[in-house]
Amino acid sequence: MTKILLLHGPNLNLLGAREPEIYGAVTLDEINRRLTAFAEARGVELRTAQSNSEGALIDALQQAMVWADGVVFNPGAYTHTSVALRDAIAGSGLRVVEVHLSNVHARESFRAKSLLAPVCAGQISGFGWRSYRLGLEALLGEFEE
Ligand code: DQA
Repeated sequence: MTKILLLHGPNLNLLGAREPEIYGAVTLDEINRRLTAFAEARGVELRTAQSNSEGALIDALQQAMVWADGVVFNPGAYTHTSVALRDAIAGSGLRVVEVHLSNVHARESFRAKSLLAPVCAGQISGFGWRSYRLGLEALLGEFEE
């Protein structure tokens, strides 16, 4: 059975309440529920995690090396700053898809730069909570022949 980690970075625990005009009204729990149902329908095991801490996100990626086939990851603001997360992704050997609710290329210029995208399989940005579903679909496609 394919096993995927759905990993959320800083401030995403506040989804639903946080700047809903940018990030939408759907809560993180609801996104996790929708993605879990989507995964289950495809016979995929999905585990979910969120942390506001860079180190905890690195720990989650390192732990995923022993059980997961891939990761759908919204790194939040660490996307734009974290060499440590980039190294963690590159060093893990895991297939990772970077996702963003908002279109990071249509906002402040500092959001257009991702330190992580070059070591990810790809990036999906701008489709609200559906970015996660598109990201999972893209990741599962990576495992097909
Ligand atoms: C985000 C985009 C980031 O720039 C921002 O810091 C976030 C959320 C998104 O999902 O659109 O926290 O990753």
